[in-house]
Amino acid sequence: MPTDPEWYRTFFQGIVVETWRRAIPASHTLAEADFLEQVLALAPGARVLDVPCGAGRHALALAARGYQMTGVDLSADMLDGARQEASPTGLTVEWHLADMRDLAWAGVFDAGYCFGNSFGYLDAEGSAAFLRAVSRALRPGARFALDTGSAAESVLPNLRDRDETQVGDILFIEENRYDPMRSLVETTYSFVRGGRTVTRAALHWVYTVREIQALFTSAGLRPLDLYGATDRTPFKAGSHCLTIVAEKS
Ligand SMILES: C[S@@+](CC[C@H](N)C(=O)[O-])C[C@H]1O[C@@H](n2cnc3c(N)ncnc32)[C@H](O)[C@@H]1O
Repeated sequence: MPTDPEWYRTFFQGIVVETWRRAIPASHTLAEADFLEQVLALAPGARVLDVPCGAGRHALALAARGYQMTGVDLSADMLDGARQEASPTGLTVEWHLADMRDLAWAGVFDAGYCFGNSFGYLDAEGSAAFLRAVSRALRPGARFALDTGSAAESVLPNLRDRDETQVGDILFIEENRYDPMRSLVETTYSFVRGGRTVTRAALHWVYTVREIQALFTSAGLRPLDLYGATDRTPFKAGSHCLTIVAEKS
């Protein structure tokens, strides 16, 4: 059965949220927060948009450093996770349940970011709508950073048919197929625990770095730098992740 093009509406629930929250070490999130602080040139107390924020790992790390954080996500389970993470810390973040293409703000944020490989879920039209919504929410001169593992120069040289990772008591299996006619990676994820398996399917649209930059430029976001890792290594073909840093024109 073909994967629902709007798979992301129901994918991020239950065991997927649990696996994502447990899979990423705190040290990795802190390194990303350091990177974001630098490349976004955050002034003390800056107002920053995290979209999509998931369970709020970056928003909370940056709120702890004194930034005014707003997190947007389409998954109620992810936002419940964010509230649970925030609760013992006493940190304040504004959490909003909304689609990343439908942001309610105009010209208010000093910076923004889309992190955790959350780009590529939408086709070109949807991705353009997302970047336009981000651009509208930022004030002129504000910076925006986006990371993705789905740039063609990353995903095609590194794509594996199958991968397995153990996350605590959950065995996480990923099976990938690439459709060159549509430049699309179709993935079946299986989550196995205690003899029970949950299977979910996802699609990632593959764009070249040039195509992503064109989407940014059309949305009024001028690309400044391309990185291949949070230590600010320049991006090159085969880098596992692309981070593009841009400025609102
Ligand atoms: C891989 S997670 C990354 C979350 C977070 N940025 C992080 O790094 O932990 C992707 C997130 O994108 C959200 N998402 C997917 N499609 C969305 C959409 N159309 N609008 C808003 N959020 C969306 C999911 O609910 C999920 O929380």
